[in-house]
Amino acid sequence: MANNLLAGKKGIIFGALDEKSIAWKTALKCHEQGAQIVLSNAPVALRMGEINKLAEMIGAPVIGADVTNMDDLKKLFEESMAHFGGKVDFVLHSIGMGINVRKGKHYTEMNYEWHQKTLDISATSLHRVLRTAWDLDALSEWGSVVALSYIAAQRVFPDYNEMADAKALLESVARSFGYHYGVRKKVRVNTVSQSPTRTTAGSGVKGFDAFVEYAEKMSPLGNASAEDCANYCAFLFSDMSRYITMQNLFHDGGFSTTGVSEAIVNGMTPSEE
Ligand SMILES: NC(=O)c1ccc[n+]([C@@H]2O[C@H](COP(=O)([O-])OP(=O)(O)OC[C@H]3O[C@@H](n4cnc5c(N)ncnc54)[C@H](O)[C@@H]3O)[C@@H](O)[C@H]2O)c1
Repeated sequence: MANNLLAGKKGIIFGALDEKSIAWKTALKCHEQGAQIVLSNAPVALRMGEINKLAEMIGAPVIGADVTNMDDLKKLFEESMAHFGGKVDFVLHSIGMGINVRKGKHYTEMNYEWHQKTLDISATSLHRVLRTAWDLDALSEWGSVVALSYIAAQRVFPDYNEMADAKALLESVARSFGYHYGVRKKVRVNTVSQSPTRTTAGSGVKGFDAFVEYAEKMSPLGNASAEDCANYCAFLFSDMSRYITMQNLFHDGGFSTTGVSEAIVNGMTPSEE
């Protein structure tokens, strides 16, 4: 449903890998709501070529940037501003990568070099993006920055491994930089804590399918889809959400505040006394 919620707004969207990506769906949604978009992803992801399909659909340039590289980020913001002919109104950080997870290292046996890399790609990168925009004064007043998180930042989900640490740091960066950017420019910074969603990053987590099913049964509304997450992000980029900042916002069908659901209890076989 297009109602021009983002008419006249310009945004950078990081992380559209393929059509399952939350960033992909968000780019489509923002375009549908009237925004102009620049797409960005890591050079290795660009080589897969899928992003060009999306770029064509929404008429957006693709500018590669490894989000751990400050020169890449500077170039991305400079070229985006040149393309837009002005400042950027919103940014979606939809980036995650767990090196220990990828390589099958258990949390208790973590390789710390890989962990540093995980934190840099998945969390410190939000600081890098905000810092680049800050230094270039690239974001408009009342601009909005959203990064995607997961409830493992607050509660233990053993197979989520080191990504729990990354999400905790990501949410902290959103709060801390959100304070400074709010004072300076009224720029808002939030994280959206999304239900488990079948994407490339999601499927990297061990036992993911069973977990999606568990979360579905635990959530009074069921799991929130990537499509619904895209709607929520579009709302957060719009002027309808101007006083929401420095928050971690659960977008999870009620999972985070449910202790146990009837669906889960009914599926248990009680052990004999
Ligand atoms: N899928 C889920 O279950 C779920 C749930 C909650 C939160 N999230 C979060 O949503 C975000 C998007 O993930 P997704 O599920 O859409 O999966 P995805 O695999 O489609 O997206 C992850 C993106 O990160 C990009 N990326 C990795 N390293 C990068 C680098 N160095 N520089 C720039 N980009 C890089 C990848 O190329 C990819 O586009 C992530 O932060 C993820 O943790 C996902």
